[in-house]
Amino acid sequence: MDGNGRWAKQRGLPRIAGHREGVESVRDCVEACGQLGVQYLTLYAFSTENWKRPQDEVSLLMRLLLTALRDETDRLHRNNVRLRTIGDSTALPGEVQAELHDAAQRTAENTGLTLTLALSYSGRWEITQAVRAIAREVQTGAIRPDEITEQCITRHLATADTPDPDLLIRTSGELRLSNFLLWQLAYTELYITPGYWPVFRRNDLYAAIDAYQNRERRFGMVSEQVQDPEKKEPAIKRILKSVAGP
Ligand code: FPP
Repeated sequence: MDGNGRWAKQRGLPRIAGHREGVESVRDCVEACGQLGVQYLTLYAFSTENWKRPQDEVSLLMRLLLTALRDETDRLHRNNVRLRTIGDSTALPGEVQAELHDAAQRTAENTGLTLTLALSYSGRWEITQAVRAIAREVQTGAIRPDEITEQCITRHLATADTPDPDLLIRTSGELRLSNFLLWQLAYTELYITPGYWPVFRRNDLYAAIDAYQNRERRFGMVSEQVQDPEKKEPAIKRILKSVAGP
């Protein structure tokens, strides 16, 4: 969700105004994902590196997050959304931790969209945690080194029970991953759009999904191997047509 600061600067506003408007984009996109039947949405809301920002911006962001959680959890729950977080939650202010814990508990049994907030998260942090956990299991004899497979590593990540993303959307045109889901993005389709996050709304999401639908995912194979002669129009595209028009 990049470009909040630049969006605000363009308008002569403080950076936090960009983050505030960014929350509106979050609300709109989460609602649209729920309606489309998207099963998993992961939002990179605060990276490990974001702690290095000026203290006042960090504090305001944490406050904004707290307010958004307090204001939105009821609605998320009503809409059958299951809320989760990944990242070093112990680094977050106590109030935020408590609110996240409460929201996750309340929505744990919901069966619609799984909304994961990446907070105090980075891909390298996550992989380091996984390596440590696996090393401990080897040390205690629970597993042998040759049992460390890709599946074993995947199981030790914070996203263990979440499938790898099909699509990564990055706003504001930057061409980098910025330490997001480094392991999980191996075969994810990338969609980079120039607009800043605060202007990214459901129509932009539809455009991204539409672009995704027109990609061919080969996973290292050749085109003929992945073509499914029976392939019908994907369900999500049909839904897109009904929601977005022709
Ligand atoms: C990146 O833009 C954005 C962030 C670091 C914060 C994103 C947070 C929100 C949208 C609000 C809270 C989220 C939820 C889930 C309620 P930037 O500040 O790096 O922008 P810039 O690159 O233009 O400076």
